[in-house]
Amino acid sequence: MFWNRIFATKTLEMLDEEAKGENRLRRVLGPVGLTSLGVGAIIGAGIFVMTGEVAANDAGPSVLLSYVVAAIACVLAAFCYSEFAAMAPVAGSAYTYAYSTLGEIIAWIIGWDLILEYSMAGAVVAAVWAKYLNKLLEVLHIPQVPAAWCNEPFTTPGGIMNLPGALILIACTTILVIGIRESAASNTALVLVKLGVVVFVIVVGVAYVDPANWYDIPTEARRTPEQILLDKAVTDYSKKHAVDGSTLTKHANALLFTRLAEKHQDAADAKSAKFWKALHHKYINDVPAAKEDVAAAEAVLHEAKNKELIDEMNVEKWGMIAELGLNATLKKVDERTSNNFMPYGISGVMLGAALVFFAFIGFDSISTHSEEAIKPQRDVPIGILASLVICTLLYLGVSAVITGMVPYPEIDTHAAIASAFTDQAKATDSWVLRASGGLIAAGALAGLTSVLLITFLSQARIFLAMARDGLMPHAIFGAVHDKFRTPHISTMLTGSAMALVAAFTPIADLEKMVNIGTLFAFTVVCAAVLILRIKRPDANRPFKCPAVHIVAPLGIAVNVLLMLFLPVMTWVRLFAWLALGMCIYFGFGYHYSVMREARPQD
Ligand code: ALA
Repeated sequence: MFWNRIFATKTLEMLDEEAKGENRLRRVLGPVGLTSLGVGAIIGAGIFVMTGEVAANDAGPSVLLSYVVAAIACVLAAFCYSEFAAMAPVAGSAYTYAYSTLGEIIAWIIGWDLILEYSMAGAVVAAVWAKYLNKLLEVLHIPQVPAAWCNEPFTTPGGIMNLPGALILIACTTILVIGIRESAASNTALVLVKLGVVVFVIVVGVAYVDPANWYDIPTEARRTPEQILLDKAVTDYSKKHAVDGSTLTKHANALLFTRLAEKHQDAADAKSAKFWKALHHKYINDVPAAKEDVAAAEAVLHEAKNKELIDEMNVEKWGMIAELGLNATLKKVDERTSNNFMPYGISGVMLGAALVFFAFIGFDSISTHSEEAIKPQRDVPIGILASLVICTLLYLGVSAVITGMVPYPEIDTHAAIASAFTDQAKATDSWVLRASGGLIAAGALAGLTSVLLITFLSQARIFLAMARDGLMPHAIFGAVHDKFRTPHISTMLTGSAMALVAAFTPIADLEKMVNIGTLFAFTVVCAAVLILRIKRPDANRPFKCPAVHIVAPLGIAVNVLLMLFLPVMTWVRLFAWLALGMCIYFGFGYHYSVMREARPQD
């Protein structure tokens, strides 16, 4: 009895009946609206922030390959999502698909996991939004929001809260309570602005690409863990000794790079020798002369050589794979495969893929909107696949341009795209490039805002589906506003929770949590589509995943592989989140699920 209860499945016919029932969301979205929704949800913090981080620290120019691997994982899952979304056009996405194939408890796990994906992604994007707001204010010569009010208090020295992040989430909540039609219009405008900016980056940036940056930077120039730790060492030192952090960074980098260049300047290979000479020339004027400046720079370089942290980073780079004992073998593969284009080897490409995967998150939110599609059977698959293809092409373009414009070890990991243009502006004295800093910051803000709007919408729809099934309190998460026809209470609750998380939580760890949660959801969707093909071969499938017996297992394999490259702590946090979810299921959903014949008295 117990097992039957927790593994109860909903039939496709039940889903079909539900889709026709009362109290459904309005069907207002066509193929263009859905694709725009997808692009709106996808392009955001990933391309504007993570591309630079991954290129500099993890993959070098082969960040392009990282994007290809992440795109493969997503395309495989997207085909499976499309088949399901066309069969069961109701609001719940992967949660609903799991309910109809794998049983209630697995559906709950996925629903709970999607809550993690959407709410944490929203918080990460809002936190990044605050950084771009300051970038825009800087370019416009308007006073910036003080650092204390732009950073969370737990890992950022001097941080109080991320106020702009919280405020943008409150603004999005208000827009979304008013309604989907208004939201779709504002979303389309935001999507057009950000698409314009991304295309601008590619078209203008391509003129400044130097292919030598892809192929001729010697692998020895890749960033070492010391370099990656330098930022933190500078922050700590400048706070403790009340010195200017940017000057200290300049001095420490100059010492580091000139020493490295001197060590390698006699390289036999002419291209390498040229690179090191140019690097030396670039930094020699910033080498500090005053005794106290040298001492400060040496102190932070020493601090950045922290052996414990470096060892930790070297193991962390292998994520869960290190725990499985495979890192020693793969390290040899890495040594054999690393080259100028792929300086961090295969592991760098794969770790990079697991991180830039964040940039693709969002296409699945189209499937949470199936219930609002005018012709879901045709348009939801079109929306999912079209938005994924558009974004993949744009991402490849942007990463090729950025790694071609700036030598990867020198990429600014905070705002890679804007900095690539402003640095180039200094070198060429071009007003177009100078103006571009502001344009890119404004475009990034528009892009991030649209990601927030859609993430919110999707989150509320997952809650709605779960509440209809009795797995969440219906009075809160199932209520649809009489006039606006929007799930207003759950939108307001989600907004408040996300605003709190964005204001007070460190984002780097959240980002990985979002990735692992989404990879897990994709894995389940790939499995579920295959199971349903076996269990219900006769069911009506308006869209069929091509070669499902290859696509679905491959989807599972690639998504699990990417999960394995994420840090062990991220796995631990995922399990903790799922364990909390289990407690809630057995405390509430297990008793109140509408699948129960006799419900206990309230
Ligand atoms: N894909 C979304 C972004 O990059 C979550 O911001």
